[in-house]
Amino acid sequence: MEAQKYKRYTITAALPYANGPKHIGHLAGAYIPADLYVRYLRLKRRDVVFVCGSDEHGTAIANQAMKEGTTPRAIIDKYHELIKYCFNKLNISFNIYHRTSEPLHHETAQEFFKILNDKGDFEERESEQYFDEQAGVFLADRYIVGTCPVCSNDNAYGDQCEKCGSSLSPEELIDPRSTLSGNKPVLKPTKHWYLPLNKYESWLREWILEGHAADWKTNVYGQCKSWIDGGLHPRAVTRDLDWGIKVPVEGADGKVLYVWFDAPIGYISATKQWALDNGQDWKSYWQDQETKLVHFIGKDNIVFHCIVFPAMLKAHGEFILPENVPANEFMNLEGDKMSTSRGWSIEMHEYLEDFPNRVDELRYYLTAIAPETSDSEFTWKDYQARVNNELVAILGNLVNRVMILMHKFFEGKIETTGAAITLTDANLKAELDRLYDELEQSFESYKFRQAQQTAMEIARLGNRYLTEQEPWKTIKTNPEGAREALHNCLVLMGHIATCIQPFMPGTAQKILNMLNWSGDTVYFDEELVFENGHQLNAASLLFEKLEDEVIERQVQKLIAKKAALETAVEEAAPNLVPAKSNISYEQFAAMDIRTGTILTAEKVAKTKKLLKLTIDTGLDQRTVVSGIAEYFEPETVIGKQVSILVNLEPREIKGILSQGMILMAENAEGKLTFVSPGEGMHNGSVVR
Ligand code: MF3
Ligand code: ZN
Repeated sequence: MEAQKYKRYTITAALPYANGPKHIGHLAGAYIPADLYVRYLRLKRRDVVFVCGSDEHGTAIANQAMKEGTTPRAIIDKYHELIKYCFNKLNISFNIYHRTSEPLHHETAQEFFKILNDKGDFEERESEQYFDEQAGVFLADRYIVGTCPVCSNDNAYGDQCEKCGSSLSPEELIDPRSTLSGNKPVLKPTKHWYLPLNKYESWLREWILEGHAADWKTNVYGQCKSWIDGGLHPRAVTRDLDWGIKVPVEGADGKVLYVWFDAPIGYISATKQWALDNGQDWKSYWQDQETKLVHFIGKDNIVFHCIVFPAMLKAHGEFILPENVPANEFMNLEGDKMSTSRGWSIEMHEYLEDFPNRVDELRYYLTAIAPETSDSEFTWKDYQARVNNELVAILGNLVNRVMILMHKFFEGKIETTGAAITLTDANLKAELDRLYDELEQSFESYKFRQAQQTAMEIARLGNRYLTEQEPWKTIKTNPEGAREALHNCLVLMGHIATCIQPFMPGTAQKILNMLNWSGDTVYFDEELVFENGHQLNAASLLFEKLEDEVIERQVQKLIAKKAALETAVEEAAPNLVPAKSNISYEQFAAMDIRTGTILTAEKVAKTKKLLKLTIDTGLDQRTVVSGIAEYFEPETVIGKQVSILVNLEPREIKGILSQGMILMAENAEGKLTFVSPGEGMHNGSVVR
């Protein structure tokens, strides 16, 4: 079995991008399942290292910094701390939470790249890529928008049209625009290093499609199959960017490693740092066939963890490969997709602020509805129902009844004729053994929903047993029988503490405290023995009922958050027109802007937008064609004093020679006003 096959375990959870808070969907997708598995392995006394950390590079962070007028460093420092703090509060038991901005990681990733490069594993290619001349950067596919060639949606992205779902490349977009400056990008040649995934195709077929048909989840296997069947192509592993890990070869100035190349290597550097800190040998966790490597991720990361990273590891040659990648689907929220940017989310820190003492309730609920085989849905009502009907009514109730009765009848003291108490009821024992087997099987096959249900079955079993035994009645007729029944329940409680520990570590600890158990863990193979004379601690409530008002408030809060965000976006809109790059004073001074007065105005025939104006500029009277007809009736503008650029090259518009341009202010909704001089300016005054 497992135990003989593997000597140790390297468990990873996807490194979150440190560019914003993370929500409970992320938690349910990767971090809780990983933690459950790790805690289970530790209860089996297996040798485990559990690594994670912040993913701190990439175009997204660099562009976010540019847009917010701050630095990538400021962004990652802020969110690294926030995310780490939340994971810690939520009892996710990483051995290390590292960062990809650490020098150790930079070295590790560069060395990895160099080894592949020296072996000739990359292809170097020059290609044309879109470049934003104003922002001075090459544009990642996501930062180019334009009209979809398939459905004409004019906000399609350079990699995909979200309206019709077509996958695109940026050159296919009609009228491409940079999302950074709004300008039309230009094609510029640039050289990059490519990992030729096509060369790994037959190996991937053998390793995944033949080798893991039985043990990988169908959603994961299916995605891999469709990627491989669709044909694999070389993938660029470098980018033109100044935020990231420098490409460690000559002739690569201004280039960094692609974030998806460096981030998974982050698992390795995190392990290195942990090994350094703890006197361990990192290599045995990454380069020994007796180590089992498992990646916990959400479904959007499957291709990188099942195809790209394994191909990198294989190319390198010294590394083990993931034994499994039990990726989850997505968790929706109250009927809609969870999204931080749209405000439809419960961020980890928000939950912790409102429910600092209900960490296990969240862990429990997110496990109960984990999107293991299909997308699932978080609702506050359901959360309340699970807490009240399961945690309070089943688990809390059992523990509370047993503790109260023990104190009431026996002053909380275990007294037995033998040396210690054990389970004396054969049925209970048989049932418990069966549940343990079931539990382990579920854990070994990454079925954590099932595992948690099984753990809760032990509490149900205890409740049934207690109800049958009725010690509160038999205490009068058969006090030793009542004592024995309660002792059996205490032993069960100990087992419950063990079995729920992966799911609800805080609650397990509370139970052990009530039992006055000395350690903070009871291992799976450990005999639970209460010696004669053992004194229990006072009873305390494990869970409190969640009231309707509390739940209602959360629903309202969610709705309000989304609404507030929508207004904020509207208010911020005027600033959304990106700033243009600097010009010289000479360029500014070259513009001759004067004040003038509109003398006549009429619509230009057969157009909707154009007005033909005559303007007294102080210098002369001239004709200007202006695109303001949709906003102003001709009669209303006659007599207005305006600003006019008089030395703009004359241009023929609809057969009329237009000499100059009227200056207008335009807000985000497209509302226009004239830029007019104040009082007392005669026509021809200079604007400068
Ligand atoms: N930062 C990525 C995301 O949030 C995950 C990176 S996982 C790693 O989707 F393997 F690359 F580290
Ligand atoms: Zn489309």
